[in-house]
Amino acid sequence: MKKKLAFLFLTMALIAAVALPGCSNDNDDPDPTSGLTKIRVATDATWPPFEYIDTATNKIVGFDIDLMLAIAEKAGLEVEFVNVEWDPLLAGVSQGTYDAAISSITIKPDRLEAMSFSDPYFVAGQIIVVRAGNTDIAGENSLAGKKVGVQSGTTGDDEVSEISGVDRVAYDEIGLAFAALLGNQIDAVVCDTPVADGYVTKYNTELKTVGEVLTTEEYGIALPKSNTALLAKINAGLAAVIAEGKIEELVLKWLVS
Ligand code: ARG
Repeated sequence: MKKKLAFLFLTMALIAAVALPGCSNDNDDPDPTSGLTKIRVATDATWPPFEYIDTATNKIVGFDIDLMLAIAEKAGLEVEFVNVEWDPLLAGVSQGTYDAAISSITIKPDRLEAMSFSDPYFVAGQIIVVRAGNTDIAGENSLAGKKVGVQSGTTGDDEVSEISGVDRVAYDEIGLAFAALLGNQIDAVVCDTPVADGYVTKYNTELKTVGEVLTTEEYGIALPKSNTALLAKINAGLAAVIAEGKIEELVLKWLVS
């Protein structure tokens, strides 16, 4: 628990350091009914607690959803969320199918070639999850020869692909990887720290994290490269909500259990 809190505070400190004041722009596509610019924001809602479907209400909820709505309010935007699978989500943003995407997307060089990113809003890293009774996996060095589940095309997938001798098992959704881990079909899952912590909290007698956090990654909101006006609005809205302590509020609401 201490380690987890320390990591969250590191997150907040880094966010405070990178938050830059933005500038505002004129609306270019106002919605005649509300006077607000309407944007379609893609999210892969299979990633609790950042974006997932609340089964009671059938609505998309989570840290990212609250953050995007808060930014939109500051920026005079109206958001329509579109639930899209991970691979088409990234492709759709780069092709301009969506105005933006918020989906715990790690800002990284190959993605920056295909799309733009807002300023960072959160810091996470990859972590290994195993069954609670596991005694032979203690970290990255003990993964050779093991079946390790990831969400295909994520930074967890990148990380596991780089470890030699690992039997990588790629799933379309991280929930399927955790189901396989709980069902003894694989030995470990590698994914982002907040998602791992969420599953370990939910299945606390069955799962545990092991080893150090393997990477340091910043999440950003992704946009098609062409839309620099919307990027400026989102960055200005993000700076405003960060200044008001929104990230800390969302950490308490969604991550500290
Ligand atoms: N942060 C990781 C990445 O950018 C995983 C994000 C997955 N997000 C999701 N909603 N499935 O690759």
